[in-house]
Amino acid sequence: MLSIGIDIGGTKVAAGVVDEDGAILERLQRPTPSHSPRAVEDAIVDIVGELRTRHRVQAAGIGAAGWVDNTQSIVRFSPHLAWREEPLKDRLVDRIELPLIVDNDANAAAWAEYRFGSGRGASVMVCLTLGTGIGGGLVIDGRLFRGTYGMAGEWGHMISVPGGHRCECGNRGCWEQYASGNALVREAKELASTNSPMAYRLLELMGGDLENITGPSVTAAALEGEQTAIELLADVGGWLGQGIANLAAALDPDLFVIGGGVSAAGDLLLQPARRMFSRTLTGRGFRAEARLELAHFRNDAGLIGAADLARRAMIEPPESA
Ligand code: BGC
Ligand code: NA
Ligand code: ZN
Repeated sequence: MLSIGIDIGGTKVAAGVVDEDGAILERLQRPTPSHSPRAVEDAIVDIVGELRTRHRVQAAGIGAAGWVDNTQSIVRFSPHLAWREEPLKDRLVDRIELPLIVDNDANAAAWAEYRFGSGRGASVMVCLTLGTGIGGGLVIDGRLFRGTYGMAGEWGHMISVPGGHRCECGNRGCWEQYASGNALVREAKELASTNSPMAYRLLELMGGDLENITGPSVTAAALEGEQTAIELLADVGGWLGQGIANLAAALDPDLFVIGGGVSAAGDLLLQPARRMFSRTLTGRGFRAEARLELAHFRNDAGLIGAADLARRAMIEPPESA
């Protein structure tokens, strides 16, 4: 049975047709139409329509970068998109004419990793997606944990630095202001705009234009060995490791899975994160340490998970996933 998964992030909509083993048969990607919930809906309807011309699909799942309520139909709030109390499911269900589920994007990613990827067999698995923000998903004993009101896993908005950088959620100093793709870009731009010799090479790789500094372009520079980009990623990794140590103090998981766009940096992100994690974990030396692994599906986890959650909702009672 095939289903469609649609991952709606701060910058892009990634969709695909997924089979029951989590394999993507075809994928589509577009920029997220910003600031208009209607335009996002139209894009979803469009994408589903296009994929259905080529595949026999039986359900669709949306992973949305926002706070999905416990009825799994309303996006209550999103720091990075225009949704406010948006009845996304009701608005779409008649237009796409398929059974539809809506979940948080990082919940969907966590589910994909648990089912088919790096999280298989974990007993308490924490997933983090590093992109525009930090997304979070938690799978405990094989079940996605959504909290009482549907909003568990929003640890990107735990305050890491009181009085720190302003966050789109309205607070200051949220963790995602330090350990996300947006944080990487902000730091790279700030450094490059100081005219520091440390940034000459990086800026040259960007064609001399600050506007070309993006998460993927900084990551690519680092992977080619550019030292400043490597340091910028290591800084993000350090913030990541420290926050992960906090989550370990709260949840005592056996595994952290790191996905999202920034995870393309691989060990350049993960090694500094592991070091800081081991350095800041409370009770270190007297406890087993959770493993930190990259998401098997990297940035595709959200769409695969959304598709699988949709498929499961068709064949099993809703409380099973
Ligand atoms: C949002 C989450 C979302 C994450 C990743 C955060 O800023 O609060 O709901 O999952 O970004 O997109
Ligand atoms: Na979540
Ligand atoms: Zn915040």
